Amino acid sequence: MKLNIAVLPGDGIGPEVTQEAIKALQAIALEFDHTFSFVEAPVGATAIDQTGNPLPEETLDVCEASHAILFGAIGDPKYDNNPEAKVRPEQGLLRLRKSLGLFANIRPVKAYDALIEKSPLKKDIIQGTDISIYRELTGGIYFGEKHLSDDGNTASDLCLYTKSEIERIAHLAFKAAKARKNKVTLVDKANVLESSRLWRKVVTDISKQYPDVSLDFLFVDNAAMQMILNPNQFDVILTENMFGDIISDEASVIGGSIGLLASASVGEKYAMFEPIHGSYPQATGKGIANPIASILSAAMLLEHFNLHAEAELIKLAVEKSLKLNITTPDLNKDHNNVSTSKVGDFIADFISNPNDSNLNFHNIHLGQSTII
Ligand code: IPM
Ligand code: MN
Repeated sequence: MKLNIAVLPGDGIGPEVTQEAIKALQAIALEFDHTFSFVEAPVGATAIDQTGNPLPEETLDVCEASHAILFGAIGDPKYDNNPEAKVRPEQGLLRLRKSLGLFANIRPVKAYDALIEKSPLKKDIIQGTDISIYRELTGGIYFGEKHLSDDGNTASDLCLYTKSEIERIAHLAFKAAKARKNKVTLVDKANVLESSRLWRKVVTDISKQYPDVSLDFLFVDNAAMQMILNPNQFDVILTENMFGDIISDEASVIGGSIGLLASASVGEKYAMFEPIHGSYPQATGKGIANPIASILSAAMLLEHFNLHAEAELIKLAVEKSLKLNITTPDLNKDHNNVSTSKVGDFIADFISNPNDSNLNFHNIHLGQSTII
């Protein structure tokens, strides 16, 4: 298969983790005889520095001309600490999602056996967790009208949803549940918010088209508690934009590190693959950022094009790296941790030689990649 992939490394650790995802994709291309070509374009603070615009027109053009987009991370402390800034890096990501119509953000959460002991949560609570979060991505409070009064003392953000915005992601969530454990949990705040009551009504109506799938409801505050009390109760979680943002960061604790969580953002026409973590500016350039979320996002990209064996091989390589403790410091505080690029080297090496990289991993701990 020939795929043109737009690469938007973005800010902070974005470029270094994305580099490792490209390494994995290149190893896959070689192994399975595909041609993947990569075109890089700026976004976020990096793009503001270069052009004054967090999403330059040329970047959007590159995305629209590609089969898929691999996204790194966005954000820079110089904007976080300046609420007055009119131009902000995050606008680049939000405009990208909106312009490309990426209305569904799918975030898988899994407790890897190799990491169970590392989670701050108890083993018997998290073991076996396998959740797929369907977060609405182009509506709600993120995109509703914003207002700041002239005197600067009053501000508001409108949370607006239409029936059709809810319907299209609900269908995706129910279809996903059919291929999983046949359960959808709608997370909302229907005891307080009108927009949540619309979600309940529309999703309940749609559930009738999926008689095999059970639907239940949780208020978001309760869902936040249930997520760490009993995550095994969840199969597919369906929720609006901001609740999904918050719940998915919380869910990452189950996996042991936010550096593991990948995501796919899909729409009618385009698809983008991005780690759920942010730009982690304190780690930039230090080689300590975990590249696995980005590498697993590349696996989701392959799945999107029905390249299942390829995606499975990436996941197997990731599991192997976790099992052998070839991991960055977020997962490996007491041991001999390895750098961002060494984790990527190991994973690419495993993809090329699934049978013998196990023998070579000692070299990695010695600081030598097996694929120099
Ligand atoms: C995410 C991020 C973004 C979001 C930010 C960077 C705008 O936190 O992808 O989860 O809030 O959606
Ligand atoms: Mn987030």
